[in-house]
Formats: sequence, C-alpha cells, structure tokens
Amino acid sequence: MFSFLKNSFKTIDTFALPEVDMHAHILPGIDDGAATLEESLILIEKLYNLGYRHLIATPHVYKEFYPNTGEIILEKLNLVRNAIKEKGINIRLDAAAEYFLDDHFDTLLQKDEILTLPGGFVLVEMSFVAEHPHFRQSLFDMQLKGYKPVLAHPERYPYLNQNIIALQNLVDGGCRLQINLLSLLGHYGKGPQLSAEKLIRHKLVSMVGTDVHHVQHTDQLYRLQRHPGIRKLLHRYDFENTKLSALSG
Ligand SMILES: [Fe+2]
Repeated sequence: MFSFLKNSFKTIDTFALPEVDMHAHILPGIDDGAATLEESLILIEKLYNLGYRHLIATPHVYKEFYPNTGEIILEKLNLVRNAIKEKGINIRLDAAAEYFLDDHFDTLLQKDEILTLPGGFVLVEMSFVAEHPHFRQSLFDMQLKGYKPVLAHPERYPYLNQNIIALQNLVDGGCRLQINLLSLLGHYGKGPQLSAEKLIRHKLVSMVGTDVHHVQHTDQLYRLQRHPGIRKLLHRYDFENTKLSALSG
C-alpha cells in the first residue's frame, strides 16, 4: 500500500520529456556550447538523468562565428561517442547541425554539403534582429532538393513570434517549427514564453529541443519537469522527436 502511494506521488512529481533531443550544443569546443570534453560528458549525463536516450548534437554552422564543416562535426562526434562508451552512459549520440540562414548556407545547400537530422530534416536558424531577406526562398530551395526544413525556436524571433498567421503560413509551406522547452519556462523572456504556449495550443509545433549549451540549461530542465502547468500543456502532444530514432535506423 505504502509503495503504491509512493509511486503515485512520484508520477505526479515529474513528467516525461520526449526521449529524443534534436537540438543540443554538446560537442566540445566548436561553438558556444560545451567548451571541453569533460563539459560535454556532464551535459550528456544530466540529459540521460532527465530521461533522454537519444541525443542529436547540432553545433552552429555560421561562417562568421562558427565556421564548422561536416568533417569537424563528425570528428567531434566520434570523440564524444568514444568517451560516453568508456564512461558507460547508455545513450545514443548522433550529430547534425544548426545552420544559420545566409549566403554560406545557400552554397552548402547547392553542394549538398548538409548534415541532416534523421529523415532529411534540416535545422535552420535566423538572426534575432531581422528576418533573413531570402527566408521563404531558402525554405523553397531546401524542399526542392528534397530536404525538410525545421525552423529552430521561432518563438524567440521578436519580428515573427507574435504573428501567428505568418507562423501558420510557414507550416502550411512545409516548414516545421521547433520550440525550445525552456521557452515554456520563460527562460528567454515573456514574449517567447507566450509565443511558445500559443504555438503549442495551435498545434503548430512539430519538435521540441533543449537547445542546451551549458549546465544552467539542464538545471532549468529539471525545474520544467516538475512544472504542473507545462505538464498539462504538453500532455499527449504528439511531437515528431520520437520518430527520429526510427528514421535513423
Ligand atoms: Fe541552438
């Protein structure tokens, strides 16, 4: 009787996040995420403890600040994969990238030098100041080449996040939307929080990501997991995250 009650309380206490994270800056020393291998392992262990079982690392590819190539990213992936194996963390790790939409991205796209999430999804981001001038064209070009664009954290772009019609149009045009879990906690401010909630209520969100860069983010995720309002909001929401594991074979 006692253990039954104990278990009931436990389920009320926290809720399950999707087991697959498709947006994380956990490869060491190549962007503004984990700086060292040690830090990568700390983040991965914390994500494992939060319930994640498959992580897809997505370092920034932004020519001016983070000129990462597929080769650099895959080399770091191997390094971290070996380290988690050695440490005995039972988690699957893959890598893609978070591409900043600019001319450099257009060139990579033309050459098909794109690291995709499983299933041909391409994670892209824009400036927080202004929309990419050829945003719609880029989305179109990606789909023409058979890729499936996923816009990272649309709730964080001030010029877009209050415009639900524009966001709906993006979805209708074949662009998936990925919100950051921490937006729901208000981590990036009130505007992104309200926008993320609205996108969930309108069922416009395809994927959720941690966008984890450092331990402060993982610590916030523990808070989120105990938040009754967020649990209620996300209850039974069918995110595409879980399908990614099957797509990667
Ligand atoms: Fe990111």
